[in-house]
Amino acid sequence: MINGLKKWRLFTLMTALIFFLAGCGREEISTLIPAGGVAQDQFNLLLLSSAVMLFVIIVVTIVYVLAITKFRRSKLGEEMIPEQVEGSTKLEFLWTAIPIVLIIIIAIPTVYQTFDLADTRTMDVEAEDGSMTNLTVNVIAKLYWWEFEYPEQGIVTAQELVVPTDQRVYFNVVSADVKHSFWIPSIGGKIDANPENTNTFYLTFNQESSELEDGVFYGKCAELCGPSHALMDFKVKTMNSNDFDQWVASMKEEQTPPSDALAQTGEELFGADGLGCIGCHAVSGVGAGNVMAGPNLATFGDRNRVAGILEHNEENLKAWIKEPQDFKPGNQMPDVKSLNGGQDVSEQDLDALAAYLMTLTVEQ
Ligand code: CUA
Repeated sequence: MINGLKKWRLFTLMTALIFFLAGCGREEISTLIPAGGVAQDQFNLLLLSSAVMLFVIIVVTIVYVLAITKFRRSKLGEEMIPEQVEGSTKLEFLWTAIPIVLIIIIAIPTVYQTFDLADTRTMDVEAEDGSMTNLTVNVIAKLYWWEFEYPEQGIVTAQELVVPTDQRVYFNVVSADVKHSFWIPSIGGKIDANPENTNTFYLTFNQESSELEDGVFYGKCAELCGPSHALMDFKVKTMNSNDFDQWVASMKEEQTPPSDALAQTGEELFGADGLGCIGCHAVSGVGAGNVMAGPNLATFGDRNRVAGILEHNEENLKAWIKEPQDFKPGNQMPDVKSLNGGQDVSEQDLDALAAYLMTLTVEQ
């Protein structure tokens, strides 16, 4: 009976472990499946230090097991006094030297990588025509969303970072309010987003995100920043440099006004004479960062989540517009009723708003 109970407990524990460890295997969000040069370097460091630690654990375990099995008092007798090794130069030397060697093995690549991964000297290198050689993205963290400004291209996005593969992309990371932290587990990071200074680093992206199950990599806020910290996700779309140039070009094009009547009504509601959403949300991809209070919606129809966390459909969009606090407590967006002077907004109007927002797209 007791044996059966123990087995049952072990089984439960193993099942729980499988459940928790299952999350480690998704390539769009796993540090253990690196998809960029920086992530690969960080992963190699992780493997090296784990190997060294495993070696120490194995040696210590062997010595421990030997000690408790071979040298039992019941085996060797009460009178037995083992050989005294106090002051043995040979032993003292060995157990000082071995840890030092192990620490050196870990330290050399760690220190080298720490400086190498923070090396942003080539960030401001200009080509002969005066354009920048490398892409730079300014990341602005806000409660609880992310803004991505492309200063040289003169465009701005929110919630979805779009980057070319196989080249260094430099990031200037700041916060507009409290401390956050910018992290793309599969690609590398993380780096603090502070309100008082700009942190700079680079990443490289090796894999096109269209090959992934969700079509995007996931990014996270990695610094506790408030009640919706865990919901402060962003997505990363990676594409080859041709597709990226095309994306930049279409971001600069003017949005085609909606042709369908419902979406047209939505556009009016969105505007200054309607609910005034446009006061906080730009719908053109052209612009600078940290100007508008809310996320830029130029690519809203191309996103794969509503508010960064909900499945991308009109039902969720309407629910979000109605009660943003239900989904992301503490976020800065007012509910639609307060925008309408305290009056409830009709279902038809919400339908129209949602239909309009879904037409905001730059990808074909
Ligand atoms: Cu932002 Cu946690």
